[in-house]
Amino acid sequence: MLPTESLLADFPILDQSIHGRRLVYLDNAATTQKPRTVLQASRHYYETLNANIHRGTHQLARMATEAFENSRQTVAAHLNAASADEVIFTSGTTGGINLVANILALSGRIGSGDEVLVSTLEHHSNIVPWQMLCQRTGATLKVIPCLDDGTLDQDAFHTLLGGRVKILALTWISNAFGTVNPVVEMTQAAHAAGALVLIDAAQAIAHLPIDVRGLGADFLAFSGHKVYAPTGIGVLWGRASLLNDLPPWQGGGEMIREVTFDHTTYNDLPFKYEAGTPNIEGAITLAAALDYVNGIGIDAIHAHENELIRSAAVALAGIAGIRLFGPAGRAGSLSYAIEGLHHYDIGTMLDHMGVAVRTGHHCCQPLMARFGMTGTVRASFALYNTLQDVETFATATQKAVAMLR
Ligand code: ALA
Repeated sequence: MLPTESLLADFPILDQSIHGRRLVYLDNAATTQKPRTVLQASRHYYETLNANIHRGTHQLARMATEAFENSRQTVAAHLNAASADEVIFTSGTTGGINLVANILALSGRIGSGDEVLVSTLEHHSNIVPWQMLCQRTGATLKVIPCLDDGTLDQDAFHTLLGGRVKILALTWISNAFGTVNPVVEMTQAAHAAGALVLIDAAQAIAHLPIDVRGLGADFLAFSGHKVYAPTGIGVLWGRASLLNDLPPWQGGGEMIREVTFDHTTYNDLPFKYEAGTPNIEGAITLAAALDYVNGIGIDAIHAHENELIRSAAVALAGIAGIRLFGPAGRAGSLSYAIEGLHHYDIGTMLDHMGVAVRTGHHCCQPLMARFGMTGTVRASFALYNTLQDVETFATATQKAVAMLR
């Protein structure tokens, strides 16, 4: 297990009481808390560097540009990208997926009669942009079904690849159930069928090592705030050969080479996809967050969280009427429902006992419908959670159930 006592000291927000109880924060799949190094990086940026980037000739602008571009290098190294040019700063996972859906539609690579393949496990942000693409292009959305254990039906996946699939858009880790998809194998199969692959790494970024070259996908998107950085910053990684061929999406400053009223030429990667002043502080603090994670080690974080999730599953298992979702090898999140009780009522009682969880559909209404649910109670874990947190959570659940029954 990680040395959580010293790690907890890195997160000032966690040192507080909620409703008179020590805060147990188990809503990390929604957003993670920020360590002091990230808070300090934000403060340092505004106190010493703040200027617009890539534009000014003055010293402050040069320093801000250097810090921003150094952050891109940090992200590229974290992802094992072939080049920092493949790292596009976005507003988050949703921004990255919408970017890809839009440029694929604009490029004409996806048209009438083609298919876009997603899975039942997807977050709305990896469904709706593709539905919008289908409406624009005449393509059809196809869905990989989910088995009762919360894993994807691989036989059905291979059958679906026999159609005219142009892109597979797949989550690496389910935010709702914690299911870890076999993304390498599924990417290989999709490529063999001639499809592109986008991986939604919104959850994976905080729990797993990511090597985009080893993974072999074409695009990967994540959000900073899921990995101890602020909201409003994210990354779209894309293969340079592909992004070079695809058209720009949003127009504006930075993405141009030359503008006249008759004609505009576009900038090279990554600027071609970064119209407008970016979230400079966000990029810099994202790099600080990745440095923090790498200082601990993502493999150690993964092992620690796995131990917490396994312990939580064992501690909850004895509660009468409980149903745990997702397979035993889940990562990040653990979802449950209790027969006869509403998830919202349980979540409210947990909150009164100082335990923060998410309840509801987790932005996965089609997945909830597949399991005949309107929502679940979800505990999601981070590097600063402890076995004591798990015990408090399980005991609070038992108390809530006893009071609600
Ligand atoms: N995607 C975030 C979650 O699962 C908001 O809670």
